[in-house]
Amino acid sequence: VLDASGKLVAPGFIDMHVHLREPGFEHKETIATGTRSAARGGFTTIACMPNTRPVIDTVDTVNYIKDKAETEGVVRVIPYGCITKNELGRELTDFAALKEAGVVGYTDDGVGVQSAQMMKDAMALAASLGMPIIAHCEDNTLVEGAAVTEGAFAKKHGLKGIPNESEAIHVGRDVLLAEATGVHYHVCHVSTEQSVRLIRHAKQFGIKVTAEVCPHHLVLSDEDIPGMDANWKMNPPLRTPRDVQAVIEGLEDGTIDMIVTDHAPHSEEEKEKGMQLAPFGILGFETAFPLLYSKFVVTGKWTLGFLVDRMTAKPADVFGLPYGTLHAGSAADITIVDLETEQEVLKEEIVSKSKNTPFIGWKLQGWPVTTIASGNIVWS
Ligand code: DOR
Ligand code: ZN
Ligand code: ZN
Ligand code: ZN
Repeated sequence: VLDASGKLVAPGFIDMHVHLREPGFEHKETIATGTRSAARGGFTTIACMPNTRPVIDTVDTVNYIKDKAETEGVVRVIPYGCITKNELGRELTDFAALKEAGVVGYTDDGVGVQSAQMMKDAMALAASLGMPIIAHCEDNTLVEGAAVTEGAFAKKHGLKGIPNESEAIHVGRDVLLAEATGVHYHVCHVSTEQSVRLIRHAKQFGIKVTAEVCPHHLVLSDEDIPGMDANWKMNPPLRTPRDVQAVIEGLEDGTIDMIVTDHAPHSEEEKEKGMQLAPFGILGFETAFPLLYSKFVVTGKWTLGFLVDRMTAKPADVFGLPYGTLHAGSAADITIVDLETEQEVLKEEIVSKSKNTPFIGWKLQGWPVTTIASGNIVWS
């Protein structure tokens, strides 16, 4: 018998943007360790990105991940298919076969489809199959050689900055291509004021666009970066305070539909290469809810219902997924959260195989204490 008295009982959290690293980068994370990290964070369904090796571009790789998730994972894992073969931007993958194999959409996260024609073809094909395109937005020519956003931190350290336009140019392009093709276009990890504006405008015109935002883009700006520490390096980068305000408002007014973590584990060795050379990305699962609960609910800015909705019902609606116990016949996906106890983020308690997070030492409340996925207790 589970005693949840005094606790929040919520539908299991859903995270539509995660990197599990398997196959190919098992030194960073595996499906076994990544799904346990998700369970600790209260997540019961996660959608994994295809920048693995091999890339998720064939039915075989989709099946490999599904099999692994069933035998070694503890939460539901839904793969995305890659838009182009081997992420090279040259040739579309077999969208119909990948759909048949069970992908939830097609994406280019981590690289970005640079050719507008290629993206238009991808969107037209996805639309014909009734499937979404999930696009990571960036013009690579504007990003090259930069590790942090254009802003106060870059200026102070004499670094080349990643400009906001690198993201917004693609959002604008892809909104127009979505309008032309009728596809459902889902915008990855919105981080700039300009992107929010473009998505808001697109929605007003009835273009089928949805969007996501990460906890770190809601709680941190580039002015919070303490120094040249690569645990503060991710893509999109931490933006200016003005951008942070804009993405918060975008989430609040419904322009941005859901919260995702972009859980992106990298080994300590890789992160020790420093701000300029280390790979982009930070952990997401284990601090997502406590961070947002502490920053926005404890302070009275959001209701608890708003936060839970953006991590459960909203992603489920947008991607047509079951959640919680609301669907008759489905086994329970439930997260029980202790909303009272304040606890420090401790490195030695991190369940992920990697430890790359800027939040070590933060005192937070709203910690998931029990996670039930498909009827099984997977975290307690
Ligand atoms: O920070 C990031 N990490 N951004 C991406 O687009 C890719 C991801 C990764 O795979 O590490
Ligand atoms: Zn991305
Ligand atoms: Zn794009
Ligand atoms: Zn990502």
